[in-house]
Amino acid sequence: MSGNLVSATLRGGLFTRIVGKRLLFFQEIVSTMNEATQQAKSGADEGTVVIAEVQTAGRGRQGRSWISREGNLYLSILFRPTLDALPMIGILAGVATVRAIRTTTGSDPRIKWPNDVMLGGKKICGILVESVVQGDTVAFAVLGIGININLDTESLEDIGDFAGSLNAAVGHPVSREDLLRQLLHNLDGLYLQAMQGQSPLPKWRTMLETLGQRVRARGSSESYIGLAEDVDELGNLQLRLDSGQMITLTAGDISLSHDKQ
Ligand code: BTN
Repeated sequence: MSGNLVSATLRGGLFTRIVGKRLLFFQEIVSTMNEATQQAKSGADEGTVVIAEVQTAGRGRQGRSWISREGNLYLSILFRPTLDALPMIGILAGVATVRAIRTTTGSDPRIKWPNDVMLGGKKICGILVESVVQGDTVAFAVLGIGININLDTESLEDIGDFAGSLNAAVGHPVSREDLLRQLLHNLDGLYLQAMQGQSPLPKWRTMLETLGQRVRARGSSESYIGLAEDVDELGNLQLRLDSGQMITLTAGDISLSHDKQ
């Protein structure tokens, strides 16, 4: 059944120029990030997509693990962007994912800065970008996307409070093939635009649920509380502290939560 995820996606018609020109499917793999990185180092073309049914060591941001069981969507895409387009990869991935979920389900997910896709108050999708830059040149970037579609998050003690699943949020089973096809299609269009200098940032900004909220941002050593006022042209969060001072937070090592007070 699982091998069909890719073949069914292709059967449904995948008309892209870069993303998905080559699709690799694995029933079980350590992490699609590792395989896509290996592909990149072996000279694979950009647009190569690695999809797995199960990951034995899926990873998330900040060294966290990503629970990866059968029935969900786990993929990594190899890009070779310009240095200017590199910061846009995660941003365009957020836009592509929100739009794919909207088109496939009719629901309206939002993005929690920097790039958690939220539906019904829970995180249903995570986005990870890993890149190798040599001087002024991006050797490659690997974009990883994990979407919980049919994951019983409530039975998972560690993540049950904040993680959700698409089927549960929309109340019916969602076609993985349709969602994957739509996602690859959206990524292709937005990536081509970004490489031509058209930023996905204004679209992403309208999808951010974080703006206008009071949040607590935890870094590796410090913690800040303030009003999430805006994002800058690179997608960094501009946080207005209670003192009136504005600080800029980069996504790298920050985790964000609502300030309950
Ligand atoms: C996050 O922490 O929110 C990012 C999660 C990214 C998970 C995806 S699943 C496909 C790809 N392979 C991985 O090991 N991680 C990413």
